[in-house]
Amino acid sequence: MSFVTLMTPARFGSLNLKNRVVMAPMTRSRAGVDGEITDIMVEYYRQRAGAGMIITEGVYPSENGKGYCRTPGLVHPDQVTGWQRVTDAVHAEGGTIVMQVMHVGRVAVADNKRPDAETVGPSAIAANWKLFTDNGGGTMQPCVVPRPLDGHEIPGVIDEYRRCTELAFEAGFDGVELHGTSGYLPAQFLSTGTNRRKDEWGGSLNGRLRFFVEVADAMAGVDGPGRVGFRVVPGNPYNDLHDDDPEETFRALLAALNPLGLAYCHTIRLPHGPVDNERLCRQAWNGPLIINDSYSPEEASDALELGRGDAVAFGRLYITNPDLAERIEARAELAPTDAAHIYDPGPEGYLDFPTRSV
Ligand SMILES: Cc1cc2nc3c(=O)[nH]c(=O)nc-3n(C[C@H](O)[C@H](O)[C@H](O)COP(=O)(O)O)c2cc1C
Repeated sequence: MSFVTLMTPARFGSLNLKNRVVMAPMTRSRAGVDGEITDIMVEYYRQRAGAGMIITEGVYPSENGKGYCRTPGLVHPDQVTGWQRVTDAVHAEGGTIVMQVMHVGRVAVADNKRPDAETVGPSAIAANWKLFTDNGGGTMQPCVVPRPLDGHEIPGVIDEYRRCTELAFEAGFDGVELHGTSGYLPAQFLSTGTNRRKDEWGGSLNGRLRFFVEVADAMAGVDGPGRVGFRVVPGNPYNDLHDDDPEETFRALLAALNPLGLAYCHTIRLPHGPVDNERLCRQAWNGPLIINDSYSPEEASDALELGRGDAVAFGRLYITNPDLAERIEARAELAPTDAAHIYDPGPEGYLDFPTRSV
């Protein structure tokens, strides 16, 4: 009998993973003010290429989709070259890298965007939340009330995701991940607390699902569904999100996504949340499942052996252990997590965690 371990290679759709240790998406705020890729980002991802698959930090697909300072974008063809340096560096080390596409919708403040960009969402309901801005040496500002999108504008927003996927593939990414949680735009359309629309983009469960499903379909249309994964977390309250019945919403969403044949579903278990996310996704989703949240390597191995997921994503451990997969394989000691400099500009707390000496 052979067990699946963290070191067993996997194929999710068209994506080849040399092991099942996935690097979770983490915003680190090291891009330029206009979302440009910096040299330290290239080196950061290169250092972590031992992961079975790297999922990048959230990347905005349009200027309206940006909400945080110093996050990277992929909106214009001239941004392809910067990302190409990242994918080349990871591929040169034998890694696989997927770009997370993140449109923040209403989770935004004007100071973090270009002056001509606006904040849009399904309905004119502000997130009761504050975001960091670099202004005045660093201030927290409340999220703005989003302008509700007209129905006729929504296909244009869906096209931003399609175009971003196209650019990501031009930049050499192996795949893309649709960020469908943490209160960002797709989650805003899905959830009763943020979607009060009466048209075909809301109003009923099917209406609330429509944006998510059409975005996933548009991304899959670029080069097939095997290069597209998605992240969902039923019951995730982050960024002031609320849904009356997340279990119902996400069962219906996964049933609607199954026929698309996407590469994988990725969830965060949120042990204290209202829904058993791993169980729900395992039951309702037909394809490969990546699980995440506070896993130690030992617990992750057990979870794979029990079939709770097909790979495990590690976030904070990847900050301090750039060679996490290699350490797990060698059963070496792990560096403890470290929250200093998480979102600070510059290399400190970003590039200075050593790999294990051999
Ligand atoms: C600094 C930081 C930034 C994060 N940024 C993102 C992000 O851009 N996209 C996303 O989907 N999740 C993001 N997350 C959540 C992580 O992907 C992951 O779900 C979380 O850290 C739990 O996993 P862990 O216990 O292994 O760290 C972030 C987490 C951290 C710590």
